[in-house]
Amino acid sequence: MRRLIVLEGGEGAGKSTVLKLVRQKLDEQDIPYLLTREPGGSLCAELIRDLIFSDEGKAADALTQFCLFWAARASHLQWQIRPALRSDCVVLSDRYDASTFAYQIAAKNGQDLASLFWTTREMFQRGMLEPLYIYLDVPPEIGLARVQSRGGKTTHFDDEKIDFHRRVAEGFSQFFQTIEARGGRVAVVNAQLPLEAVVQRVVTEILIELRQP
Ligand SMILES: Nc1ncnc2c1ncn2[C@@H]1O[C@H](COP(=O)(O)OP(=O)(O)O)[C@@H](O)[C@H]1O
Ligand SMILES: [Mg+2]
Repeated sequence: MRRLIVLEGGEGAGKSTVLKLVRQKLDEQDIPYLLTREPGGSLCAELIRDLIFSDEGKAADALTQFCLFWAARASHLQWQIRPALRSDCVVLSDRYDASTFAYQIAAKNGQDLASLFWTTREMFQRGMLEPLYIYLDVPPEIGLARVQSRGGKTTHFDDEKIDFHRRVAEGFSQFFQTIEARGGRVAVVNAQLPLEAVVQRVVTEILIELRQP
């Protein structure tokens, strides 16, 4: 069974752009993969995604948001991630549980949910290898400026104030420290580098992962 590969990072870090280009590189090398995203990725999880990004989702407290994200993840795992990993496919996800920790706990002041987070995560991880996390590291100010100049669709998370995004960045850092302390793999990529260099770093990490027995 393979390990899930997760691309994480704050708003405007470049996750979606990088994954589009990574996909081209994998196609060129005839490597089969499933490219997916969170929240969402399965039919039920995409419905929950709509709820999360609705006005009602925006007004929800940290616990409600926490539960919505895990509910979406349960469906995503059932219908997409676990079947693909079982068939030895490379699975790349645009965000995963590090984002739940960074946004719903660290940034939304849901500190009292931290122990619930780790217990829940343990249950969700049962029967799976620890994911490989690739973190696109960019200061929140730069990420947000990129979102602004990108234009197009934004979410209520994009619209939060800079302090919120600083807490997100701290949350990612805290999450990855815990994962590494538990023996998991985290690759931090400097996402301020030119796009092509970032893509190359991400592809290299994926190819290293593919060479694992
Ligand atoms: N390494 C980079 N250097 C400069 N601009 C970038 C880089 N990576 C992404 N961008 C630009 O930043 C904007 C946000 O990228 P996007 O992929 O939508 O971020 P995310 O999915 O992480 O929120 C896009 O306009 C994208 O072209
Ligand atoms: Mg994106």
